[in-house]
Amino acid sequence: MNNPNATATPLKRTDYCGALRAADEGREVVLCGWVHKTRDMGHLVFVDLRDREGLAQVVFQSDRPTLSEEAKKLRGEFVVGVRGRVRRRSSVNKDIPTGEIEVEADALQVFAASKVPPFVVADPPQASEELRLKYRYLDLRRPVMQRRLRLRHEAALAARNYLSKHGYLEIETPILANPTPEGARDFLVPSRMFHGRFYALPQSPQQFKQTLMVAGCDRYFQIVRCFRDEALRADRQLEFTQIDIETSFIDRDEFFALNEGLMEALFGLVGRKVERPFRRIPYAEAMEKYGSDKPDLRVPLEMRDLTAIGREGSSEILKGVVAGGGEIKGLLIPGAGGLSRGQLDKLGEKAKALGAKGLIWVKKQDGWKSSLKTAEADFERIWSVLGGGAADLALLVADKKDAALKVLGEIRRTWPVEDAARRDRLEFCWVTDFPLFEWSEEEKRFVSMHHPFTMPYEEDLHLLETSPDRVRAKTYDLVLNGVEAGGGSIRIHQMDVQRRIFKALGLTDEETQAKFGYFLDALSYGAPPHGGIAHGFDRLVMFLAGEESIREVIPFPKTTGALDLMTGSPSAVDQRALDELGLKLKG
Ligand code: AMO
Repeated sequence: MNNPNATATPLKRTDYCGALRAADEGREVVLCGWVHKTRDMGHLVFVDLRDREGLAQVVFQSDRPTLSEEAKKLRGEFVVGVRGRVRRRSSVNKDIPTGEIEVEADALQVFAASKVPPFVVADPPQASEELRLKYRYLDLRRPVMQRRLRLRHEAALAARNYLSKHGYLEIETPILANPTPEGARDFLVPSRMFHGRFYALPQSPQQFKQTLMVAGCDRYFQIVRCFRDEALRADRQLEFTQIDIETSFIDRDEFFALNEGLMEALFGLVGRKVERPFRRIPYAEAMEKYGSDKPDLRVPLEMRDLTAIGREGSSEILKGVVAGGGEIKGLLIPGAGGLSRGQLDKLGEKAKALGAKGLIWVKKQDGWKSSLKTAEADFERIWSVLGGGAADLALLVADKKDAALKVLGEIRRTWPVEDAARRDRLEFCWVTDFPLFEWSEEEKRFVSMHHPFTMPYEEDLHLLETSPDRVRAKTYDLVLNGVEAGGGSIRIHQMDVQRRIFKALGLTDEETQAKFGYFLDALSYGAPPHGGIAHGFDRLVMFLAGEESIREVIPFPKTTGALDLMTGSPSAVDQRALDELGLKLKG
């Protein structure tokens, strides 16, 4: 056959490289893709060709000298078309799905040459994350990244199908909107038509989805982009995606079951079983036992309160802490009794770095050993509350309650889980009934712990004006292996209660009217009881992919420094654009 390079007809693909199998033996195929690797053996030239679906080996034989010479000129990342016949390989490559076959080429077309790439496009990546992000189009060519993009697509599809099957309609809400009070800073978009006025990109579609309930839509969902100007880290981006859900006439148990089913559908995509129903842990209990509102239940350790022992025991130090309003928390670590002094000192330093004044340790080996000097009876009591044995270690922190819980909670969270099977588990739980408000030192006022549309418990409503910090809210976070995967609540659907909440948050009537007037109005035209949730889609896909950063499952993420290294955004704008918007830069 002639070299099609000589003709003008481009080769037309018949198959994906990665899709060829032994059953294709004997077929004439045309593959199109990127040169992954070439090996020139003199009489034979091997080219691994890569496309979205994977790799296939192409062989150029010396009995077609012109073609073979052309093949020798190929370099990594050239884009080519190859025609040839599928044949069995003499030596099978078990590592790739196409490893039983190869394509004996009889035509080659070079669609595009490539500069030498700044890193080799192969798994695992041999480049820094910065370089990968700068040349993301090369990074995304890697088979692993292609698989993640597909997984993300499949997860979105599975969520849509699941929710649609349960009567939910996907409804779009505006991106140019008013600020949403979710606790982060807004991205503002200046209006060209109205100088001095701004749209805000939504931190979430919270008010819109509630408005849709007032509008009678009954069951809404949206796979939606949200924008929050907050500090970035492994599980946070400036723009991220939620599976956002809202339901009218909601029954909380039914709603939990619906969301658990959604998790089952998503994790089923990667063959992972989800144990249902998920444990439900009230916020107060989560803080007491785990020192965290997002406990990692794979870590088999729980804290206990030892304040009574401090108060009634013989240690002056502990007595002093309790007398000063502090508490004593203890964490038993089974099997850790063998830790050396050096290792215990390291733990003590860690506790100090976390803000503790000190860390007390207790062991029971040939008598009591401890960093605390006190009577044996105290150790006996500590041991009995914690359920300790001879091989175990107890860690105690005596401090203000929040500080003690935080320090021990962090030691608990980061304690290595030895058992690999346990480490691989999916430990879901619902953390429920958060406080409605928390005190903001920065703003010197109470702020919503979730958002201001969360329904308080009716029996706590009387505390709204007198002890706002004691009001519990009908909230629920979905926690997976110590990560907040989703958050939601039952909403306020009575206008007067909503007004009281705004007041408790320190908003004047005028401010409330300006910010939420339309929303209060909507609530006064017959709002159904409703509630909902939003799942962090990027975080869920991160778990599905077995990754530890959402940047690995977002096609074009920003760095932790909030930059897009590929496009160079954010970028400066020219004076004309600023003039049109009526803006003047300071300095
Ligand atoms: P919340 O603020 O808890 O609730 O957000 C819901 C979920 O979105 C994910 N998430 C993020 N993911 C990546 N980057 C971020 N910066 C980021 N911020 C949040 C988390 C989180 O659990 N409107 C309410 C939901 C509701 O009440 O229905 C809301 O947005 O996984």
